[in-house]
Amino acid sequence: MPELAIIGGTGLTALTGLQITRKEVVHTPYGEPSGPLTHGVLNGKEMIFLARHGYGHTIPPHRINYRANIWALKEIGVRRVVAVAAVGGIHADLPPGRLVVPDQIIDYTWSRAATFYEDGLTHVTHIDFTYPYSPELRALMIRSCRETGLDACEGGVYGITQGPRLETAAEIDRMERDGCTLVGMTGMPEAALAREVGLEYAVCAVIANWAAGRGDAGEISMEEIERTLATGMGRVRTMLARLVPLL
Ligand code: HPA
Repeated sequence: MPELAIIGGTGLTALTGLQITRKEVVHTPYGEPSGPLTHGVLNGKEMIFLARHGYGHTIPPHRINYRANIWALKEIGVRRVVAVAAVGGIHADLPPGRLVVPDQIIDYTWSRAATFYEDGLTHVTHIDFTYPYSPELRALMIRSCRETGLDACEGGVYGITQGPRLETAAEIDRMERDGCTLVGMTGMPEAALAREVGLEYAVCAVIANWAAGRGDAGEISMEEIERTLATGMGRVRTMLARLVPLL
């Protein structure tokens, strides 16, 4: 069984270069994942791909069944998850197109099913989440970026908003005061759920746009985001091609 899974976000609903061998439908106690798990081979390594928003990119961030996605991956024997996400850049060092390997999270989401530890418990459980991402996996992603000449930001605080609307300029100001350097909508509860079931998990984020009120573009357009992501996801593929043999 493949030990590695890649969860693709906006702009990465398919993984170019992945030789698909089969698709597996997995049912979980928490409902259906975003789609069947795609088994394939990338650079000689067996792996699983899952499109977080569904293969037709139809599931908005607050409706994603994060528990089913993580449960399904764990259930079939995955140990490591590389999560790819399109985000907005808050910090001046994070312009559109740049890659970031965040090391911290601030969670602003609400009313998402965010834990496996709630029903039928014999005791209340609190997982440690001081460092939300796997340091080993982050280090390998950073190494892959360096070795392929990709200019990635090697840390960042990922603020996760509820969406699906983008933020106001004042909300981004507040997030910046909180310490967030990038903003997206899908980083939680995915990371916490992965920790709950003991998956090694880290994020490679692609800056799709300046966050609200940053840069000088005024309104944020979906066309601009899509154009930037086309280039940015090419960079993610380069990183992944290097990373996969290291795992
Ligand atoms: N905000 C939140 N999520 C996002 C953004 C943003 O600016 N860009 C891409 N995902």
